[in-house]
Amino acid sequence: MTEDAAETRARKLFSGPIAFLKSAPSLADLPEPTVPEIAFAGRSNVGKSSLLNALCNRNGLARTSVTPGRTQELNFFDVGAPLEFRLVDMPGYGFAKAPRDMARKWRFLVNDYLRGRQALKRALLLIDARRGIADIDREVMAMLDEAALSYRLVLTKADKIKASELEAVTAEVVTEARKHGAAHPDIIITSSRAKSGIEELRQAVITAADQ
Ligand code: GTP
Ligand code: MG
Repeated sequence: MTEDAAETRARKLFSGPIAFLKSAPSLADLPEPTVPEIAFAGRSNVGKSSLLNALCNRNGLARTSVTPGRTQELNFFDVGAPLEFRLVDMPGYGFAKAPRDMARKWRFLVNDYLRGRQALKRALLLIDARRGIADIDREVMAMLDEAALSYRLVLTKADKIKASELEAVTAEVVTEARKHGAAHPDIIITSSRAKSGIEELRQAVITAADQ
């Protein structure tokens, strides 16, 4: 497909029908795996739900919050009519203030889904540009490498830092991405607030869904 055709397709798809399908509080509640799934993963409050909304160009599709721990279930969104693929908004990991049994529940849900879902074609692993990669992200990356699930690192909240800082964190994250077997060698730099990096993210999602 030419670049123009790809852009047109992305524009149509993400301005067309997109609908919340269901929330899955456990693996038993997952939808039938009939189409490719692309998941948004990352630490609590990194901006997963916001980025999903920016990607789909609509506010309030996925619920966001200033308080970490907003998303507590796997939320599935149907993209396209006829249905082409599903986006999955995941609970965040590493939320220190979550009650321990809840944090455990989320961890199992997130890990089991990421490791064992055949319909899952790619994970987008979001990293807060202000913070860079944390140990807990490294644990998830190691798990994804082992599961051989292809994933792409995506910097979020790029609007929050200076260009020079963004350059430094980008270089660090790219260096680390290239050490991981299942990680895409290039990262995507985004801001849901400034709506930057969204076109690139759309292409990455469509490419992953087509595979
Ligand atoms: P959990 O569901 O709790 O894991 O959080 P999440 O990763 O879904 O984060 P969410 O999208 O709810 O956003 C968390 C906070 O970060 C909210 O206050 C958002 O407004 C803010 N936020 C998200 N993306 C951006 C961004 O690109 N720029 C700025 N400045 N703030 C952002
Ligand atoms: Mg969320």
